[in-house]
Amino acid sequence: MIKQNLILGILLAVFFSACKPKQMPDPIELKVDSLLVQMTLDEKIGQMTQLCFSTITLNGSKNLDLNVNNFREAVTKYHVGSFLSGSDSIVKWVNFITNIQKVAINETRLHIPLIIGIDHVHGANYVNEGTILPHNLNISCSFDTEIIKKGAKVTAIETADLGLTWNFAPVLDIGKNPYWPRLYETFGEDPYLCSVMGTAFITSYENCPEIAPYKLAACAKHFIGYSDPRSGWDRTPSEIPWQVIYEQFIPSFRSAIDNGVKTFMINSGELNGEPVHGSKRLLTGLLRNELGFKGVILTDIKDIKKIVDMHAGADNEKEATLMAINAGIDMSMACNAYDFCTYIKELVQEGKITEERINESVRRILRLKFELGLFDNPYPRSDRLAKIGCKEHRQVAKEAALASTVLLKNENVLPIPMGKKILVTGLAANSKQMLNGAWTFDWLGAPEERQPKNMNTLYSALAKTFDSNNVTLFDVEKLTSEAQQKDFAKLAKKTDYIIVTVGERPYSEFKGNINDLTLDAGQSDLVLAAVATGKPVIVMLFEGRPRIIARFVDTVGAILFTGYPGIMGADAIAELLSGTISPAGKLSFTYPAEVGHQVPYYYKKSEKYLPLYPFGHGLSYTSFEYSGLQLSDSLITRPDQEITATVYIKNTGQIEASEAILWYVKDEVGTITRPDKKLCFFEKDILPAGIRKKYTFKFKPIDVCAYPDEHGSTVFEKGKFSLLVAGMQVNFYYK
Ligand code: BGC
Repeated sequence: MIKQNLILGILLAVFFSACKPKQMPDPIELKVDSLLVQMTLDEKIGQMTQLCFSTITLNGSKNLDLNVNNFREAVTKYHVGSFLSGSDSIVKWVNFITNIQKVAINETRLHIPLIIGIDHVHGANYVNEGTILPHNLNISCSFDTEIIKKGAKVTAIETADLGLTWNFAPVLDIGKNPYWPRLYETFGEDPYLCSVMGTAFITSYENCPEIAPYKLAACAKHFIGYSDPRSGWDRTPSEIPWQVIYEQFIPSFRSAIDNGVKTFMINSGELNGEPVHGSKRLLTGLLRNELGFKGVILTDIKDIKKIVDMHAGADNEKEATLMAINAGIDMSMACNAYDFCTYIKELVQEGKITEERINESVRRILRLKFELGLFDNPYPRSDRLAKIGCKEHRQVAKEAALASTVLLKNENVLPIPMGKKILVTGLAANSKQMLNGAWTFDWLGAPEERQPKNMNTLYSALAKTFDSNNVTLFDVEKLTSEAQQKDFAKLAKKTDYIIVTVGERPYSEFKGNINDLTLDAGQSDLVLAAVATGKPVIVMLFEGRPRIIARFVDTVGAILFTGYPGIMGADAIAELLSGTISPAGKLSFTYPAEVGHQVPYYYKKSEKYLPLYPFGHGLSYTSFEYSGLQLSDSLITRPDQEITATVYIKNTGQIEASEAILWYVKDEVGTITRPDKKLCFFEKDILPAGIRKKYTFKFKPIDVCAYPDEHGSTVFEKGKFSLLVAGMQVNFYYK
């Protein structure tokens, strides 16, 4: 039946294209046209609609038990072409997707398969058996593109066979506002780092050969200006000068487009007074025309409605629908209502939206479905599911956690020798939820009882590594009574080291809005109680953003930023503490010292950078000596003249370790004032003890020193520039 319709459609499409000036359409274009000419307006609108699974599951649950009537209504009455979300076991996913695809294909007139979306933002985090990777903020601290590529591949393999074709990842917003509750979903504060990490994820995810015959789509989100809201709260207005939008916010999205990302999701908030979902200037002007994005633009959840309810940018939802369509969206993540379908139909019938405009979006959506091979392989398969959560994938999760944990402070406390007694306490001491964080089996992070059986907590991992007789758990978040204080002091007496885990319980989006970055007082008190025992104290920061730790930072012996390190996070941390491997992560964000003063590392000359720990900070168990920084040329006469920079790095310590080499450039004077410095290249390498190696960075000044003005035009001014690596600096001149 599919075939017959396709043949008829192709004939029609060939007929119509014969009437146009001669141009050879590509095969997918032909197939798309063949379907489009047969589609009714309702069928087209259905393709532009995405519903949450909770609309078609029993009692609206996130678990995958189908409410058949609701589902039939969605696909046969409203012709809905896409669904999202859900959380369940492998078996349930396979059955559920198979069943709904069967109905969509066999019981609808044109047999168009569904496209299913999921937020697999840190591994296969909505599959009970999935490999849960560290969150992006952690991963970015690895400064290791191989790790993010491996993680993307693991995610692709654990996602594709279940029929989950569209992943709403990666987040490409830059994480420069430490209050923003989605900071941990970003790759940190630096535009270049976000571009490189985001693009590495996209190319590895969308081009993973191991999942053949399936293909997957990534989604660059959330375009644009989401991450620096004036209030620090989620989905509240951002006011960002256009020059800054071009220099800091656009690069990660531009790089995603240039590297083939198939889809985009839009920022729910407003930018400079315009709700982004209703902004033609941002979606058509900037994203489509200027940046050249040709794929599918999806709204964020219920966001057409939010133009009315949240932004008061339109009188009613119908007007908002018109705005969003005119702005350039292709598909509405309507979630649980059919209003979008109703309003679009009325708007077309009233002549306010042309059918040609609808066709444009439907074409892109059908093209995506064809490109992903959904017409040929719409069903999940069960013969390679053993790979989900397999040992090899767990190893990648562990490598990622090892590479990204950051040692912030170490006053001869770490590593801990074997045989020593350790007391571990605080909110993450015996919690799996605190390792996996939010977006794990549940939007807010699953409760302890729903976490995987076969994973370690920090306590159990320490007990394995250091011997259970040496490790004691004191399972409290804070000390709430005198009796507890006494018990704690008693245990502390018998121990050699105290590990105190502090931080934030998992949160998502607006649920993580806060008014004060200061770490909860009770948790700081627990650290101070540990310090008062006189034993060496190691603090671990399990948090999604830098909470202020001023009350105890000077008194403890060691501090690690552990973030939300995933399913193998505890095993990795235990290994780092034991010293079998050295920490090698560096901060991808600035750790502020105080609540009231926060600027990113690319601050301006008239500002002061007074962080507790700067961007790029991270200690090791060994030491690296940088020397001999040199440039092949210090005078250039053409902006595209290539310069080669070299530096020698020696591992001067006793053990092998990895080092992230961060190169920065500084434009000494700019008519648009220039940042103190900006990251322009990085690489990570393993250096054995005692070894000295030469590292090279080749660059064209136009690529690293030029900057955009407020119209996005390139500015490259003559003058003095500097290249910096590990505190060393050389100058070059453009005359
Ligand atoms: C988030 C998106 C996510 C979507 C679907 C929204 O609330 O902002 O990042 O992809 O939900 O789960």
